[in-house]
Amino acid sequence: MDIVVSGIRPTGCLHLGNYFGAVKNFLKMQDENNCYFFIADYHSLTTHPNPVDLHGNVKQVLAEYIACGLDYEKSTIYLQSNLQETCELYLFLNMNAYIGELERCTSFKEKIRKHPDNINAGLFTYPVLMAADILIHRANKVPVGKDQEQHLEMARTFANRFNRIYKSDFFPEPLAYNFGQQLVKIPGLDGTGKMGKSEGAGNAVFLSDSPEEIRKKLMKAVTDSGPTIPNQEKPESIQNLFTLLNVMSSEDTVKYFEDKYNDCTIRYGDLKKQLAEDIINYTNPIREKIKDVYENNELIKKIVNTGTEKAKQSAMENIKQVREIIGFRNF
Ligand code: TYM
Repeated sequence: MDIVVSGIRPTGCLHLGNYFGAVKNFLKMQDENNCYFFIADYHSLTTHPNPVDLHGNVKQVLAEYIACGLDYEKSTIYLQSNLQETCELYLFLNMNAYIGELERCTSFKEKIRKHPDNINAGLFTYPVLMAADILIHRANKVPVGKDQEQHLEMARTFANRFNRIYKSDFFPEPLAYNFGQQLVKIPGLDGTGKMGKSEGAGNAVFLSDSPEEIRKKLMKAVTDSGPTIPNQEKPESIQNLFTLLNVMSSEDTVKYFEDKYNDCTIRYGDLKKQLAEDIINYTNPIREKIKDVYENNELIKKIVNTGTEKAKQSAMENIKQVREIIGFRNF
């Protein structure tokens, strides 16, 4: 049986990128594997959230996990901050993580470019904490979106290095995983790059957005003045809309708009309207459930308690062995 670990930072509501990059895979994996799905609340501290926001966002993501269909009896659902064993492993792994490799990490370089006033050590060692999250359960599969590929490569490096230094085979090599195919990148609505919470207002469609909000966001999505030559290549902003259409809409719908693009008769307004309705239909049942779960404090408490207990068992057993391997032994 595979051991599966993944997490999401609680920095707001989940968007379609989180859903199709991560959560949808969690759902497909939870029946047949030993799954640990957590909320990466330690990781979210790099941006210094205030305590009330942090707590509310953790609850929101928990509610969204459940509303999407995660089953707390099949999977272990917990908060990263309830598993202090992860911190100890993070410390051990930090001893074998080199400054040069951390400096070369793309997400770190991007963060320091965007936030030069907050280049903290937590940000610098972010991939080490992530490796600790994964290795604390000795996971071999990690369902994530394309943007996390490099972090997973680093987790493999840290796992292999630990094994080499201590002449052990304790840690498996964790693989970035997408059920059945390649890792996905869901584009945003602003014409460039990926869908993300910090990419500016209107770039992301959230699972909890109302139908009106979704329609409004889609209508504002960046496009161009339209194709003028039959079968011409699509610029990035248009390709992004087609990528979303491929994920959200039926094959017939995709073909209809592809044909219209290729013979230069496409009206982007029609495409956006169709895409908005398909997103609304897809997210309707999830949106309704999020509110119910969010308001059910008893259920949330039960999920966290059950998950923490199960996660603790695995983490305590593994950290005990790691301590032994390193040479922290009882007299
Ligand atoms: P985070 O919170 O940025 O994103 C959570 C998950 O959503 C995926 N994702 C996307 N996938 C496709 N297209 C997009 N536009 C898109 N945006 C986000 C991410 O790939 C991710 O799978 N470092 C992680 C959290 C983490 C973690 C871990 C994950 C901490 N420890 C251990 C796996 C294992 C992060 O910041 O994800």
